[in-house]
Formats: sequence, structure tokens, C-alpha cells
Amino acid sequence: MSSPAVPATCVYRRSGIHDAALRSGYEACRRATRATGEIEYAVSLLLPPPLRTATWALYGAVRAVDDLADAAGPTGEADPGRAGWLEAWISAFDTDLREGRGSDPVRQALIHTMLTWNLPPGFLHTLFEELRQDVHGRQFATWEEWRRYNSLINTPLVLRAGSLLLRAAGLSAEPEAIAVSVPDAAVAWHTAVEALYLTDALVDLSDDLGRGHVALPQEALDEAGVCRTDLLARRATPEFEDLVRHLADRARTWLDHASLPPVLHPAVGIALGAYTDLYRLRLKAAADAPAALLHRRPALPRGARLRLLLPARAKAALAWGLFPFPIQPCPPELAPAETPEGPDEPEETRSQAARRPPALPPPPHPSGARPPRLPAEAMPRHVAIVMDGNGRWATARGLPRPDGHRQGAEALVDVVHGALEIGLKHLTLYAFSTENWKRPADELQALMYEIPQVVLRLVDEELDVRVRWAGTRSRLPADVIGTLLQAERATHDRTGLTLTMCVNYGGRAEITAAAARLAQEAVAGRADPGSVSEHAFARYLYVPELPDVDLLVRTGGDQRTSNFLPWQATYAEMLFLETPWPAVDRRTLWDAMEQYARRTRRYGSVPRIPAQTASLRGQEAPTR
Ligand code: FPP
Repeated sequence: MSSPAVPATCVYRRSGIHDAALRSGYEACRRATRATGEIEYAVSLLLPPPLRTATWALYGAVRAVDDLADAAGPTGEADPGRAGWLEAWISAFDTDLREGRGSDPVRQALIHTMLTWNLPPGFLHTLFEELRQDVHGRQFATWEEWRRYNSLINTPLVLRAGSLLLRAAGLSAEPEAIAVSVPDAAVAWHTAVEALYLTDALVDLSDDLGRGHVALPQEALDEAGVCRTDLLARRATPEFEDLVRHLADRARTWLDHASLPPVLHPAVGIALGAYTDLYRLRLKAAADAPAALLHRRPALPRGARLRLLLPARAKAALAWGLFPFPIQPCPPELAPAETPEGPDEPEETRSQAARRPPALPPPPHPSGARPPRLPAEAMPRHVAIVMDGNGRWATARGLPRPDGHRQGAEALVDVVHGALEIGLKHLTLYAFSTENWKRPADELQALMYEIPQVVLRLVDEELDVRVRWAGTRSRLPADVIGTLLQAERATHDRTGLTLTMCVNYGGRAEITAAAARLAQEAVAGRADPGSVSEHAFARYLYVPELPDVDLLVRTGGDQRTSNFLPWQATYAEMLFLETPWPAVDRRTLWDAMEQYARRTRRYGSVPRIPAQTASLRGQEAPTR
């Protein structure tokens, strides 16, 4: 049972993985899965080829990074080399994901899977963040700490596998989205993953001790009267044996009480059933010989394993035969690692863009309203908006403030549709400032959910919108960073509207960061401090290509700019509206643009220059 019934080459062909380099990445992931995840590998063989290869890529790649992070040495002291390798891997992953390439085979397989299945990369960034700390050794004082780690590292990874299984029912929802409306399901998934993680902590004990690590909370050792020093010295005491039996019981109870998600495809039910049964077997093997855990991983008893897997294989094959996997994935072509960067777009990327389905037009406004016709020379090229008033809009209706942000997201989508309809080239939205961290926790949580969601929604609409992110990573949840980076990557070849999302943005911070980078370049001898022009300086801003703002709008009644685009908006026309953001729609944008078209701009000169001559400033005329 240790090799797939179908040869791996055939599995790759059926998964649409033809490129030799890519196959070698998937092969490395398959081998890592087989070597380190006996149960996961066995269950992957119950899945159809496209899901099987995706499972290998996710599991194998995460194991590869995890191995980099494992603190070396029996004393548990950090190996400084590991921190560097891990950092290099993560930074190469970010670059590869942004550019849609893979600069090493395992990363290539992982990125290929994420793009093929449109998996949000946030979970990996969260995982990386935790692994960075693992390099320095990790000990859990309490169950609570243990649970938190589990919820950051293991649950999201298992849920990605769950997300793949949902595709078998034709659903492309992420399990987290389902959990929002079915809280019981979320609790069940967490409990199930905790059962798996506790089981692994027991069976991996010997390997962990070899690295001076114990993946169990100190609280559990204390309660059982197990001395850490005894454990590290691999001394089997009666207390230790009791602890193992007790924890195995606990994991079994968790597993028994974590109901399986509603079975949407019979074969998925068979695979999940086999998965949990194999874990029960693993728990039994651990509890049957606790002292042996100090010296080796318990093997799954071969006979019991086969009795479980053989019928599962037959049933799964029958179920997939009767109800075939509904999706033929459309794997993306990854650019080769040596793709040159810079303005000269490589041939491959251009042909990739040409193969992409054309962008869809925005849906019309429900009222049937159509955009006004503005003379080309009176069109602003760049409109920037402070989307203010969500909280007050909700409070005025007796609703919690987060409801205002939910409605604000609707307004945002409609305004983007309207910007496309009228032919605006640049729309920049202030969604979250570096000062907004002072807001209450529930509101921050709502914003950190709504902002990436609305970005994903716009990407999924396949509009002619290129998404950019202006802001800093500091304090921003890893999944938000991941979503913004992936949105940038997924839309980099769109040419209609550039939508710049200012998230965790502060204008002064942007200028300070640019100055610091320029100073570094000067110190390194790559920039001449004596000849720094405004144009040269702007190259160090978050989005260097962002043109000057023509029209800056703030909704919600306040008349200030609150640290928004101080560099780019020095000559912007200002428009302050009483309307709170959730009450805005595309007609508000069109109306603002009409007002702009009637304004006169002087740029410091004496003669009055009508707005129409904005193009004299070297800005190209809009296309419509
Ligand atoms: C600045 O005012 C306003 C912002 C940074 C925009 C805030 C917008 C949101 C929080 C909602 C956007 C999200 C969605 C989903 C539409 P400020 O209140 O931060 O600063 P102030 O104290 O100077 O007024």
C-alpha cells in the first residue's frame, strides 16, 4: 500500500502537470509526504489525481519548510544557520508567489497548487511567522498556548485540504467562510485538528526529544507529575506512562466528538472516515506501549492498516467512478525561475496574458444609471478617496460598527464598477491607516476580514482591474498580507483601472521609508545624494508608478486628509462630502468627477488654468 495504484507519472498527466521541472517538484513533495506523513499519504491515494497531487504539494512543501525551522541539537539551542535558511526560503516564496514562478522545485509545486486551486496564501504567512519563532525553540506553558499554536499552524493547513475536498462537491468556498455561518462546524474542525496534533505530539515524542523539544504543554506534565528532565533523558516513569494513556484517551474523545463535515461527495466521506480511523489506530499503537514512545515512533500495525485501507480504496474507487470529480483544474503556467525582472516584459509572460480569458465588463448599476460623458481633457486621471463614515452610518441605524464596514465593502465594489464604466485610470482607496490600530478589537477584526474579502471579490469578478497595495506589513495579519500580495500578482496584467488599496498606510511613514531606502542606496554608492530629484525620490514610494492625485474625496462629513497620500496629493482638488461611505455608490463618484471637471486648476501659476489642461502636466489623456 505504500505506492500509488496508478504510477506517479500517470497521476501527473491526469493532473495536467506536464512540465518536467514542475513534476520533479511534485515528486519531491510526494516523497516527503510518504516519508513523514504515512497516514496523509495513504489517504491521498483515495483521492483523484488532481486532488492527490495538490495534497502532496501542500503537505510536502510545508514539511520541507518545517524541517528548516526545527531547532537543531539535543540541547535545543537555536542553530543560527537555520534562521537564515528559513528567512531566505520565506522571502523567495513571497517573490515567487508575486511573480508566479518557482525558483526551487518544491516551492514551484506549492505555488503551482495554490494558483491552480486559487488557495488564499494567508495561512502560509501565518505559518511562516510561527516557524520563525520555532527556530529559537518552543515550549508551551499551558494548554491555551498549545491550542493557539495549533490554531495558527495546523488548523489552517488542514482546512486547505478541506477546501480542496469541498471542490469535489463543486464548491469553491473556503471552510473559514462556511464556519462564519456555521459556528458549530468551526468548533468541530478545531477539535478534530487538536486531536490529530495531540496524537502527533505523542508519536513524534522520540524525534522531538532528539532535538531537546517536547511538544506538550508544561501544564500537562505538571498535572501528571512528569518531570521534564526525566523526559529529556528518555526515562520511562509510571507517571509518564499514565500521562500517555490519559492523553491518548483525550485525543480519542476529541476525535469521536468532532463530527465529520456534512458529506458532500461519498468518496470524500470515505477518505475522511479512513483518515480518522487511521488516527485511532495510531493512538492505540501509542497507548499500547507508552515507554517505547521515548525511543521510536510507533508503527501502524500492518494487518489492521490493510484491513482498513483495502476496502476504503475499493469503495473510494467505486464512488469516484459513479460520481466523477467534477472539476478539470486549469493549471497556470509558471514563469521560469530565471525570468528577468523589469519593464521589459518577457515573451512568456506576454503570451500567458494573451491566453488569459478577457476581462469582464462591470455589472450595470441596478437603477440603470449610466456614467456622464466628460470631455477627455476634463477627466481626472487619478481619484483618491477617504472612505470615512462607516461606523457612524451603522451607529445611526442602531447597528454595530462592523456592520458599517460590511456595507462599506458593498459601496467599494459599486464605486470600482463605476470607475471602470466611466474610464477612470487610477482609483486609490484609504481602507486602513497606521493610526487605525487604535480602534476597538471587534472593529479591527471586522476590518481585517472585510478588507481582504472585498479585494478577493474584486479579483474573482475578473474585471479589468489591476490591484496594488500601498502600506506596510507591520502588525498586519499574515493572511491580509498574503491576500493583498496574491491580488497584486493575479491582476498584474490588467490594464483598465489601477485600484490602489491603502491598507495599513500612513503618508508620513511612506515618505520616511522612502527616505530611508534612498539613504541606504546612497551609503551603498548606488545613489548620488547630490542629484536626487523629486522624480527619483518617488521611485522609493510604496507604489512608484502612482500618478499625482487629481481629485481627493473624503466622505463622512470631516474635512481633513488624515495622513493620506501627502506626497501624491499636493496639488489635488479636494471634495468633502457629508454622505457616509456606506451610502455612497458609483453615482457619487461620477458626480464628484463632474464637479472636478468644472474646477479650475492653477498649479501655482497666475493665469487661471481650467481643469481640462491637466494633461499639460505631462499626464497622458485618459483612454475614454
Ligand atoms: C481616515 O480617518 C480614514 C480612513 C483611514 C479610512 C477608514 C476606512 C475604513 C476603516 C473602512 C474601510 C473598509 C471597507 C471595507 C470599506 P481616521 O478616522 O482614521 O482619521 P481621523 O481621526 O483623522 O479622522
